[in-house]
Amino acid sequence: MTPIIRVTNLRKYFRVSLRAKGLVGTVRGLFTGDYRLVRAVDGISFEVQPGELVGYLGPNGAGKSTTLKMLTGLLVPTSGELHVNGRVPWRERKAYVAHIGAVFGNRSTLWWDLPVVDSLELLQYIYRVPPAAFRRNLDEFRELLELDAFLDTPVRSLSLGQRMRADLCAALLHNPDLVFLDEPTIGLDVVAKERIRQFILHVNREHGTTVLLTTHDLSDVEKLCERVMIIDHGQLLYDGTLSGLRERFGGKRELVVDFAEDYADVSVDGVEVAGREGPRVVYRFGREDMSASQLISALSERFRIEDLSVREPDIEDTVRRIYEERLLE
Ligand SMILES: Nc1ncnc2c1ncn2[C@@H]1O[C@H](COP(=O)(O)OP(=O)(O)OP(=O)(O)O)[C@@H](O)[C@H]1O
Ligand SMILES: [Mg+2]
Repeated sequence: MTPIIRVTNLRKYFRVSLRAKGLVGTVRGLFTGDYRLVRAVDGISFEVQPGELVGYLGPNGAGKSTTLKMLTGLLVPTSGELHVNGRVPWRERKAYVAHIGAVFGNRSTLWWDLPVVDSLELLQYIYRVPPAAFRRNLDEFRELLELDAFLDTPVRSLSLGQRMRADLCAALLHNPDLVFLDEPTIGLDVVAKERIRQFILHVNREHGTTVLLTTHDLSDVEKLCERVMIIDHGQLLYDGTLSGLRERFGGKRELVVDFAEDYADVSVDGVEVAGREGPRVVYRFGREDMSASQLISALSERFRIEDLSVREPDIEDTVRRIYEERLLE
């Protein structure tokens, strides 16, 4: 399959003047050449296949938005190659945007003073969406995103959650092949987040839209993405499945067993007993030690078991450890 996104050794450096205070300082900075180089994106390569739903993660300032801005053609790379949908985004921006959608969670792409529905109709015109397709998509998205209550409201009066739903609808009305979502759930409550996740899943599954999304909310990732990329300081630290991430960096798993009775010695070689309360025992074990089913069968040979459950390490902890330790260095 031809990848829909191909990024090779992509870099974006910003020059930040050290005397940026006030106009005089800025101008002097330009002449003296006193500046600091910010390596926002520093040599990233990856491919995305059509139909994938990929999470692009990293701590604040990691370079996520900068990458997305290059992918949407808003920024010109300092170096490296970038092909999306067979095009170079910044070079062919006009033809390019007809086939992509983008939501930048921290600012709306809709017209501030227009009612939502007028904004959407303007977009239909700009993207030349055939009327029938526009109707069909609008009807579908209106229902999924529950837009009806505020279709006639000017964008500036919308709540954050409503605005995000309107923006998502706008980004997808023209049936783009792929959509870039930069923190689409930022600042939303649990219910609003869930509605937006359902919508993203729907669009990915039913329309086959490729999705690349950034978020700081790891439950977004757990619910949506099979594949995650983690960046920090402009470099890719991990690219793979979420379960692979757990396997490679995850802490230990736990098996919680309720025995039929309070056995005296419940120890198992190579496995730590992390807790014990009467007949309930918590075993802690690494993936390299043994599998959960090996442990369970070893236990059931010796004891009568009433109930058991496996606790996976928390994904949040796993990712935080990667940020903190830069494990791949
Ligand atoms: N226009 C700019 N001029 C100078 N520096 C910039 C510019 N845009 C971004 N940067 C810097 O580049 C780095 C990466 O920023 P970016 O916005 O891509 O991070 P991010 O991963 O999206 O972070 P966050 O999670 O906070 O949104 C930061 O150090 C930021 O200050
Ligand atoms: Mg950002």
